[in-house]
Amino acid sequence: MMYGILFTILFLAVLLLLQNKKNQARYTQQYIEEEPSPLSAEQIQLIRDSWQRVLPIKVKAAELFYGRLFELDPSVKSLFRGKLDFQGDKLMTTLNVVVNSLDDLSGIETMLQEMGKRHIIYGVDVAHYETVGAALLWVLQQGLGEYYTEEVEEAWAIAYGLIATTMIEAAYPA
Ligand code: HEM
Repeated sequence: MMYGILFTILFLAVLLLLQNKKNQARYTQQYIEEEPSPLSAEQIQLIRDSWQRVLPIKVKAAELFYGRLFELDPSVKSLFRGKLDFQGDKLMTTLNVVVNSLDDLSGIETMLQEMGKRHIIYGVDVAHYETVGAALLWVLQQGLGEYYTEEVEEAWAIAYGLIATTMIEAAYPA
């Protein structure tokens, strides 16, 4: 009886976990593939507010990010040749610039395009962007806890889609 209850709880937890993984991957894929819609003023505010909650734990967040990324796709680990804490710092700094530029992304378009092209040299391919997006949403979920609402998730998924699309279109022109 006891084992039955434990088994059911475990089963439901695994199911929930898998569902979550699928949703976050679907989310980023959807916004990368579709023509990205611009963010509303409310969505920009949601991103900024939630980012303020993540910034104080940015070192931990970056660490969690790579952990999750390598869990979702162990094959990308070999692409990272430098020190991960150094790399994590660069990632968080770039995200910070992006969050501060959401009102007018045209100001950082060239920076994103150049970054997209550099990513080809690192061995990154288009499909990786979906995985990175899913890892990012997952980290936000961990860091924000109850503040990670559906609206926050959607706003971040759109923002990530806009960034990723700009990088991808510059790196792999049709
Ligand atoms: C929104 C998307 C992304 C952002 C903002 C981002 C940001 C960065 C930044 C700032 C760097 C430092 C070097 C540079 O500026 O060129 C970097 C390097 C790198 N990124 Fe990304 N990245 C993104 C997507 C990806 C994806 C999809 C992958 C695939 C796994 C990836 C893998 C790497 C690798 C392998 C490096 C080089 C690390 C090393 O030299 O050890 N990035 N990224």
